Amino acid sequence: MILKIAVLPGDGIGPEVTKEAIKALNAVAKKYDHTFEYEEAPVGAFAIDAFNDPLPPQTLTLCKTTDALLFGAIGHPKYDNDPTAPVRPEQGLLRLRKELGLFANIRPTTIYPKLVNQSPLRPERIAGVDLTIYRELTGGIYFGEKQLSDDKTQASDLCSYSREEVERIAHMAFRAAQKRRKKLTLVDKANVLETSRLWRRVVAEIGSTTYPDVALDFLFVDNAAMQLILNPTQFDVMLTENMFGDILSDEASVLGGSIGLAASASVGKVHSMFEPIHGSYPQAAGKGIANPVASILSAALLLEHFNMYHEAGLIKEAVSYSIEKGVSTPDIVANSIYTTQDVGNFVESYILKKEIPAPVLDNKTIGKSTII
Ligand code: IPM
Ligand code: MG
Repeated sequence: MILKIAVLPGDGIGPEVTKEAIKALNAVAKKYDHTFEYEEAPVGAFAIDAFNDPLPPQTLTLCKTTDALLFGAIGHPKYDNDPTAPVRPEQGLLRLRKELGLFANIRPTTIYPKLVNQSPLRPERIAGVDLTIYRELTGGIYFGEKQLSDDKTQASDLCSYSREEVERIAHMAFRAAQKRRKKLTLVDKANVLETSRLWRRVVAEIGSTTYPDVALDFLFVDNAAMQLILNPTQFDVMLTENMFGDILSDEASVLGGSIGLAASASVGKVHSMFEPIHGSYPQAAGKGIANPVASILSAALLLEHFNMYHEAGLIKEAVSYSIEKGVSTPDIVANSIYTTQDVGNFVESYILKKEIPAPVLDNKTIGKSTII
């Protein structure tokens, strides 16, 4: 397969982890005879410095003409504590999501047996956790009208959803649940918010008319935050709106021991983007301590998106093996001697050396776990 991939390394540790993901993709390309072409473009604080724009027009044009995007990280401390900054790096990412119509953000959490003791939760609570969050990504409070009074003493952000915005991601989440353990939990705040009551009505209707084989339940977001800690194995697919999904996916990502392991896919009708959940982690930039696994697994999600299940499986296997062998960065192995690059090299050589497995014909089995 020939794929043209836009690479947006962004800020902080973004460039160094993305480099390791590309290494894994190149190893796969070599092994399976694919052609992946990359073109790099600026985004985030890096792009503000160079072009005074977190999403320069040439970056957007590139992204609209490639098959997929590999994204690094975004954000810089100089903007974090400056609420008066006229442009912010994050605006680049938000505009990118909106412009490309990436309405569904898929964030899986799986636990590696070797890391059960790294989890902030007790091993018996964490064993067997396998959940995935479907977060709506182009609506809600992130994109509603923003206001600040002239005297700057009052501000508001509008949270708005249309039926269609709820429907399109709901269908995706239900279909994912059908391929997994057939359970979908809608997370909302329907006891308070009108938008949440719309979500509930629409999702309940779609569930009963189109996906009767999926068990649907509802949780208020405060309870869901608590249940993720108390009993995370109860979840299969969680579906939620933009901001709740942002918060819950960070919470879910550390169940496995480190946010540095958590990958995500953002997909729309035409475009798709693959990125780690973590931020730019500026304190670690250039030190070789950033965990590249989230970025490498994001590359695996990219391959799955284009139906390259064997290839994605091999990347996941390589990552599992590196973790099993303790070839990991210090976020998961205290005082580890292995660097970002070492982990990437290990994954690369595993991919290159491993024999291509015999074809597996059962697509349902292959597609069952979206990642890891
Ligand atoms: C994420 C990030 C972004 C978000 C930020 C960087 C705008 O936290 O992808 O989860 O809030 O969506
Ligand atoms: Mg976030």
